[in-house]
Amino acid sequence: MAEVQAWAADLRRAGRRLALVPTMGFLHEGHLSLMREGRKRADGVATSIFVNPTQFGPKEDLSRYPKDFEGDLAKCGSAGVDVVFAPEASTMYPPGYETYVEVTDVSQGLCGERRPGHFRGVATIVTRLLCMFRPDVALFGEKDYQQLQVIKALNRDLHLGVEILGMPTVREPDGLAMSSRNAYLSSEDRKRALAISRGLGAAQALYRSGTSEASALTEAVRRELRAADLREDYVELVDAERLKPVASVQPSQPARLLVAAFCGTTRLIDNQPIGG
Ligand code: PAJ
Repeated sequence: MAEVQAWAADLRRAGRRLALVPTMGFLHEGHLSLMREGRKRADGVATSIFVNPTQFGPKEDLSRYPKDFEGDLAKCGSAGVDVVFAPEASTMYPPGYETYVEVTDVSQGLCGERRPGHFRGVATIVTRLLCMFRPDVALFGEKDYQQLQVIKALNRDLHLGVEILGMPTVREPDGLAMSSRNAYLSSEDRKRALAISRGLGAAQALYRSGTSEASALTEAVRRELRAADLREDYVELVDAERLKPVASVQPSQPARLLVAAFCGTTRLIDNQPIGG
């Protein structure tokens, strides 16, 4: 930890810009897109690979979260990352660790409601990484849209002064949002999982053809989930910033359609802007 902090401090002292890309590893093109953008925007790029235990619930997949550290290092190298920070859990949470960060409003609802404590864990680790590295810019994916808003809020409220950059969701050629958790899917489930992006596409098409009511747009997604036998966790139309439910899309206010669904035992999330 001391070495990477010294590296970041030296870079800053030399007046150079630093980009940070926090990850949990098992890297894919979505992660690499953040690293490459960081490379364009800064002189030094740091990535963290840390499966953060405090953001997993007791019944979630912490112990079986996929790992490929050697492969990840090679990918980081090819994406232009200068430093990889991959601490042990006992380094980040030694006995007696007692400080947590809670973002109280935008963490409510959606994944915050279904995964109690999740965003407290995310906010805590991200705040600490931002404090450790003090980057000029930190890059996050819109794939985890509520997480991105939580991070923007903590950066604002704690005066961290980092530019938080949200990057578009990288998808497989058939539309499935890339995720480390896609590795859990059998080939059969992998096909069924496509219903999520297909549903979002159907809602988008419906909006473009003149339908703006939340009930109709969410039903377009639900229809696809049902047809593929995916279990809905939530499908919600919310305002794109505060993530509060809206009854319809208003031209003046960007909205976002967010989905979480179970494909077998694997929980997948995706989202898409609507209007705005
Ligand atoms: P992880 O799921 O590994 O994701 C790391 C970063 O990659 C996040 O900002 C996420 O939004 C982004 N990302 C994931 N899939 C993406 C895709 N298909 N397209 C674009 N970006 C994508 O999110 C986390 O880790 C953790 O919660 C973390 C922020 C590291 C805190 O522990």
